[in-house]
Amino acid sequence: MKQSGWWQSMKVAVVKDTIRKIGGADHNKYIAEGINPHKETNIAPSTFLQKFDVTLQEQILNRYTEVENLLRKHLGEPFFSQSGFILYQGNCTELLDRLLKSNVRIELTVTSPPYNIGKEYEHPLSVEEYVSWCSYWMEQIYRITTDNGAFWLNVGYLEMPGKGLCVPIPYLLWNKSPFYLLQEVVWTYGAGVSAKRRLSPRNEKWLFYVRDIQNYTFNIDDIRDPNVKYPNQKKNGKFRCNPLGKNPSDVWEFSKVTTGKNRSSKERTGHPAQFPLEVIERVVKASSNPTNIVLDPFAGSCSSGIAATGLGRIFVGFEMRHDYCQLAVERFTKFQELRRYTQRQKTLF
Ligand SMILES: C[S@@+](CC[C@H](N)C(=O)[O-])C[C@H]1O[C@@H](n2cnc3c(N)ncnc32)[C@H](O)[C@@H]1O
Repeated sequence: MKQSGWWQSMKVAVVKDTIRKIGGADHNKYIAEGINPHKETNIAPSTFLQKFDVTLQEQILNRYTEVENLLRKHLGEPFFSQSGFILYQGNCTELLDRLLKSNVRIELTVTSPPYNIGKEYEHPLSVEEYVSWCSYWMEQIYRITTDNGAFWLNVGYLEMPGKGLCVPIPYLLWNKSPFYLLQEVVWTYGAGVSAKRRLSPRNEKWLFYVRDIQNYTFNIDDIRDPNVKYPNQKKNGKFRCNPLGKNPSDVWEFSKVTTGKNRSSKERTGHPAQFPLEVIERVVKASSNPTNIVLDPFAGSCSSGIAATGLGRIFVGFEMRHDYCQLAVERFTKFQELRRYTQRQKTLF
């Protein structure tokens, strides 16, 4: 018989803080009730559904029109282009070459390339070939990045025959481009494959690169974590913690986009390696500003495109496969419908 322990009936006491609030009251309520604040989203989190003010909306439209015209001239007809979201179907190394010839420069690239692990969208390469292919497109990205721009690279593990089973890809790639590596961020999640003869993998890495260490965009206040343990703690009479919350640190906990009966995330599309929108939200907010261009050269289901346009940036995506481009367009169209619907409701009430 299963024994029940004292800990099973115990509730975590949450001290009611009436003096000072860190972050929104809603967020603290989630913590008090033991609900994960990074809850499932319905197509997109509410932060992507806000209406921009008239001036910003006009600036976004102007930048989008300018970028789209330049891209049409140098890259040809896009697969899809609407409301700040521009998607090209093709091989990213060829498209990056053409982008280099245009005058378009990118403030932020955020991407997750194939990991060379036999997924349906990759062709197997030797580890040497894989590293040299990655070095090639990372250098291309460097050349199209603005002086104050950033590059966020999400990678996992690969097998090196005879050497290692789960070799962290950052060990192979970290210094294979002219970018300056600012830091590595650990992205950890609760669910994943269960291993039997080793530890179950529960993290991937983000490599946060900048072009110029003296001058890069970093909006810490836009990504502060309101989940602060001791919001009232003072030093020399002053509150220790920023009222917007704490620095979210270099360890991020965001659930993966899950699949399966009764547990599938609502944002799930048919793409097998989709980013959760909340992780991209943090990257986009930290390393770009409204009207900036966000590029994803391995766009897949275009999670970066939803986050970028939802936050008032212009998205440029490259994706090789036609079926993924199609599902990305369907996803964006649904997102736009939800956005329009939410904004209409706000005007009515
Ligand atoms: C890891 S997935 C990216 C998933 C994406 N982050 C998302 O949220 O859906 C990598 C994607 O790169 C695409 N891809 C692979 N090689 C490519 C290439 N040379 N050029 C453009 N896309 C490529 C694959 O088809 C796949 O959709």
